[in-house]
Amino acid sequence: MVLSFDGLAEVAIARDLLRRWWGLELGLSDAKGGGYERTSHATCESVRGVASAACASALTDVAAGFVKTRERTAIVKLCHAGMTLVAAPVYGQAGLLGVVYASGGRGVDPTPMEQGLIATIGCTPEESRTLAAATPVLPEADHPRVRDLVFAAAAAVERALPAEIAPTTFSHPFTEIVGDAPAVRDVVKLLMKVVKSEATVLVHGESGTGKELIARAIHYHGPRAKKPFVVQNCSAFNDNLLESALFGHVRGAFTGAVKDQPGLFQVADGGTFFLDEIGDMSAALQVKLLRVLQEGVFTPVGGTKPVRVDVRIIAASHKDLANMVAHKQFREDLFYRVNVLKLTVPPLRERVSDIPRLAQHFINKHWRSTDKQAPRLSQSALARLVAYPWPGNIRELENEMERMLVLAGDATELTGSMVSTRVAGMVAAPAKSLRDAIATAEADAFVAALGRHLGDRDGAASDLGISRAYLEARCAALGLGSGVGTGG
Ligand SMILES: Nc1ncnc2c1ncn2[C@@H]1O[C@H](COP(=O)(O)OP(=O)(O)O)[C@@H](O)[C@H]1O
Ligand SMILES: [Mg+2]
Repeated sequence: MVLSFDGLAEVAIARDLLRRWWGLELGLSDAKGGGYERTSHATCESVRGVASAACASALTDVAAGFVKTRERTAIVKLCHAGMTLVAAPVYGQAGLLGVVYASGGRGVDPTPMEQGLIATIGCTPEESRTLAAATPVLPEADHPRVRDLVFAAAAAVERALPAEIAPTTFSHPFTEIVGDAPAVRDVVKLLMKVVKSEATVLVHGESGTGKELIARAIHYHGPRAKKPFVVQNCSAFNDNLLESALFGHVRGAFTGAVKDQPGLFQVADGGTFFLDEIGDMSAALQVKLLRVLQEGVFTPVGGTKPVRVDVRIIAASHKDLANMVAHKQFREDLFYRVNVLKLTVPPLRERVSDIPRLAQHFINKHWRSTDKQAPRLSQSALARLVAYPWPGNIRELENEMERMLVLAGDATELTGSMVSTRVAGMVAAPAKSLRDAIATAEADAFVAALGRHLGDRDGAASDLGISRAYLEARCAALGLGSGVGTGG
């Protein structure tokens, strides 16, 4: 697997601090310690060839150690040339995926390095002294800070790993309905029965939960699939317009009715009529609808002759119709006609386990490019999506994914910083002191701004309305979890 590294804001920060304060280089190897050539430090460059193989073998040992111990920490080790190697593991679900490491420095005492160079690449004592003298010194007292930075970079690489989306074990013919949560399984099981019948269906659920998607599924998987599927939202129009839209009108019925106009019930003849937000229908129209349901006939506006139609009705509402009946806001007889089969669609916050699957579904749905692969969803982005309560339900999630795809542009990965502030801002933080809360918010803002500017400090600083020097000082103080920078 190709790990994200160079594009990550946290890696850019760690790399920069390591370089500036200790002259170290940050690199990434694969799970076997390979890929050493990503590091280009002057000392290592000058002994490249023999020494790079030696250093790589030190990394190989480190990687093998992580594979065995599954240790979650940064370790310090001398490479075969006697230089200091600080390394932290990157784990995926299957095990070690890579090692992030800082190299290019030596301990205060040059002797181990001088001897190492003589032993591994056959330098003369003179050459080894010159090389060791030119190598940056990493005092032992600084090891904790360097370990923190390397570990923070490794953790960022882990967070950028593509989100693991477990394949569903739930198979059904309604492939357009994505979801595996218990509540969704219940809906789908009921759907299997509903599609075989001709009964009127009432779909209840909050806005954006997929009521229309379900209505379409009922129609297109049922016996009327080849006949029309017609949709009308009952809260979209005023009463007169809605009546005319539903039932049509005859010429001269009102000013502007210059010819007979068939209504949507005629358009839907033989097929299915989806009446959305039926709870918003006026009392007068409720009577007309009841007649269609009872007798299969209605009279167009201004007309006298009843029109007969064969239409299956699927009604939807986000309101509780039974409650409306109790308050005399909805006709009881119509309620019983409509409520023959009731499907309740759960809000997204009650099927959080489906968010990864749905997010991936919308990435694929809205990915237009044919020659390039759709970007992957990173774990950091997913963590934010999962923490948000989604009041607009699946429609809101779909919009968010579309927006992230636009933001991502050519990026191969959707990162946490691409999640809109509205969604990301809702991440539930554990209780903590005000000071911690401010530091976290500040760190988030810096990481997001650096992410937007691909690590460019000047751009990020101007975004945040602060100077670059202040940005750097604060990043260091917030320190990717360490006290780094207080002296720099
Ligand atoms: N379970 C689901 N799987 C895939 N897409 C869904 C699912 N539920 C809803 N959607 C999508 O979310 C959007 C909103 O759904 P919609 O049926 O219009 O909601 P509602 O009618 O309840 O307001 C649509 O684009 C729909 O295709
Ligand atoms: Mg709708």
